[in-house]
Amino acid sequence: MTRAHTTPTLTCPDPAVEAELDTLLARMPLDEKTALVSNQQHTNGALPVIRAADGAAGIRLVPGVATATAATALPAPIALAATWDTSLAAEYGTVLGRELVATGHHVLLGPAVDIARVPLTGRIYESFGEDPYLTAQLVVPEIRALQAEGAQACVKHFLANNQEHARATVDAHVDERTLREIYLPPFEAAVRHAGAAAVMTSYNRLNGTYASEHDWLLDEVLRGQWKFDGWVMSDFLANHSLHASFAAGLDWELTDAPEWGDHLAAAIRAGEIAEQELDLHLRRILRPFLALQQQHPAVPLTEEEVRSHRTTGQEAAARSAVLLRNNGLLPLDAARCTKIAVIGPDATDITAAGAGSPLVSPHHATGHTSLVDALRTLLPGADIRHTPGTAPISAGVLLPGPGAIPPEVLSTPDTDEPGLRAEYWTNDTFTGAPAFARTEHLVEVNRGHFSQPGFHAPSPNWQSWPQNVPARHATRWTGHLTAPCSGTYELSVTHLGTARLFLDDALVIDVSHRDTLPEEREIPEGILWSGAGATVHTATVTLSAGQRLHIRLDYAADLPEQSDHYGAQIRLGWQPPADCTPPRHQEALDLARWADVTVVAARAYETEAFDRPTTRLPQGQDDLIRLLTRHCPDTVVITQSGGPTDSSSWREHVAAHLHAWYGGQDQGQALAELLIGAREPEGRLPLTFPGHPVTPDTYPDACYPGTDGRVRYEEQQAVGYRAQLRAGSHVFGHGLTYTTFTVHDVYADSEAHHPERPLTVTASVTNTGPREGSEVVQLYCRVEHQDSTHCGRLVAWQRVRLRAGQTRQIQLTIDPGGPNHPMWQWNPRRRRWEPTSRPLLIDVGSSAQQIYATLRLAPEHGAGS
Ligand code: BGC
Repeated sequence: MTRAHTTPTLTCPDPAVEAELDTLLARMPLDEKTALVSNQQHTNGALPVIRAADGAAGIRLVPGVATATAATALPAPIALAATWDTSLAAEYGTVLGRELVATGHHVLLGPAVDIARVPLTGRIYESFGEDPYLTAQLVVPEIRALQAEGAQACVKHFLANNQEHARATVDAHVDERTLREIYLPPFEAAVRHAGAAAVMTSYNRLNGTYASEHDWLLDEVLRGQWKFDGWVMSDFLANHSLHASFAAGLDWELTDAPEWGDHLAAAIRAGEIAEQELDLHLRRILRPFLALQQQHPAVPLTEEEVRSHRTTGQEAAARSAVLLRNNGLLPLDAARCTKIAVIGPDATDITAAGAGSPLVSPHHATGHTSLVDALRTLLPGADIRHTPGTAPISAGVLLPGPGAIPPEVLSTPDTDEPGLRAEYWTNDTFTGAPAFARTEHLVEVNRGHFSQPGFHAPSPNWQSWPQNVPARHATRWTGHLTAPCSGTYELSVTHLGTARLFLDDALVIDVSHRDTLPEEREIPEGILWSGAGATVHTATVTLSAGQRLHIRLDYAADLPEQSDHYGAQIRLGWQPPADCTPPRHQEALDLARWADVTVVAARAYETEAFDRPTTRLPQGQDDLIRLLTRHCPDTVVITQSGGPTDSSSWREHVAAHLHAWYGGQDQGQALAELLIGAREPEGRLPLTFPGHPVTPDTYPDACYPGTDGRVRYEEQQAVGYRAQLRAGSHVFGHGLTYTTFTVHDVYADSEAHHPERPLTVTASVTNTGPREGSEVVQLYCRVEHQDSTHCGRLVAWQRVRLRAGQTRQIQLTIDPGGPNHPMWQWNPRRRRWEPTSRPLLIDVGSSAQQIYATLRLAPEHGAGS
């Protein structure tokens, strides 16, 4: 059942709503007003409590807040972006809006429209990639549809929240032109074209000032230039002031430790702030609440709705997967493939998902389909076998240094089980007897709020944290390592706090925070919310195959700042000899040798509050893929990640590569259908996959992750594909199909460009291959003869579905009023948009790199003056 609401009622004054507001405000005591703007509403106040939920990819349900226990886990927003499908974005918004309301909430803390600036940053999955136009075009229908269901959208994180490292304090230095052309347009579109009810300010500072108290951002741009009359909330604990944020136009602090609250009430009583000022903020918050009649109880979802929401999710998952390589093995020939090996730690579940506050929990409440189950259903005649191939993947893989020693080469002291014996002390000095002990498979721990239950998205068989272990604690792991091969091993300890590694009772690594960290080390406040900091120490040992080494690792999470947000970080890692095949890889290889075709489902781990150390696949998955492809050429790799995954070490050797993002609860079904050709691959990259591994060393420190608390956006507008296109990389817009296309007979409806006149490009598209499929024709616009900071940018696209051999003529229109101001450039000196007086080049292609034709348009006389 859809409630009929229209977006404009949210912010345009409605006399009935204004009258209701007058009555309400007159009835509310000052303390209730200040409690409301500080997220401290009481259930017995004049108003029902305004409830907000995270929900980038489905509604996050918090017991006691939500009135329901299940929500649909949709594919991540980056997957939605990979569909390049504005109607699907609207369906996605409808599901979110309907489920938000049905679960007893009023405000969706999303969508996020943060531009993917650096491939390592933890939350790429939660937004729409690297391009402001693609982001804007998708977020507008999503928000409109969401708000049409009676929900409020709160677009976030405003502004320049483009890394998790030190996210709470980092000062993003960005010039105005770059802000105007890259980072602001998606917000502008959300506010001006979709009428988003609310905006969330980011944690970081922008050019020296916290976003939550940024006059220019909130007052001049958002409310002044964009005429936003909705409300502005801070991110959680991102308000740092009383007067500065209040005066800049922050309306609501999302917090459990108010900066305002009683202090605001006191400031009003002291006459420092007028109560009418507070009423203005309250009106902005309450107007959409009343206009949408959110005070009325929600209608729960029907079973039919639950089913249809799952269908939307499955559809988005299927349409988002991007085929990056195919030597012809895909689609699989069901008659030829009777034995299929599926290898991957998560292939029997749907656990690969973006972690942190957007995680939809519980995933399984409304059912789900794993890749293995779906293949078994679709290919009933085939023998489909699974092995994980690697140890479970968790937030621990985000730590730097060599991967964890796998359980199969470890054994516990007395019982000889795989893994090590772990003893836990509830103090950080190993004082007294351990509180408890258990067998653990791996030593790979990364504890923070982002890895607590409900925020953590580990592989299915990951062993959960022991209960009741305080943030400051000590652990001793003991057991044996049995060398699988002869040769030189590098053993490593990645740690935050004190660590001592003993091999056959000899102390080989001895590091405590006292000797690894300088006395004067200053812990930036922000790191507590984004926990990088562990360091890596190694020891080299030469072992012969079968040799057993006694291991003892003592670890104390004993840094003064270690807390629930910045907890234990410890890994016992290794780098075995180059030609050594660990037992689990051997098992996978044996299965692959048995099979006609092997499908490897590999995954990354990405989360809020932690950037990745590398774009390589974690937990030895790259090594595993290389091993399999050396022996079994018919290997298909599916990768699951939000940001780019590096495939440079195996790309040339796999038969096919499908990039599948985080696809929600029915991704398994979607992928199985794509593999067997029951559906055509349609996804296109919403961000560039560089042709090489990316680590923090790829960047000058000042540009990422920053120096002295500051990160400089020196690349300016050269983000993603706008930077130099590197040979061998998968570039923005790219995606193969099971057929082939040409684009020909391209022309524009004018020989000149004018900044205020739409421009229509006509092109003919022919399906030159053997099957049905769809091409996404893309237009990129650049100014002739300009330097590299003035690269082509996406200005229009259109999908065309064609049968084999079919040709269709299509028309793409560049809208000069579009969200990225396509025919305009920001003049930093005059601080305004200006049309270009030079010729424009319009590239017509199937990616930012694959260009079929370029049109040259002279400026129309007088247009650029
Ligand atoms: C995140 C926001 C989220 C908020 C509330 C913060 O840590 O940055 O995106 O909406 O928490 O859960």
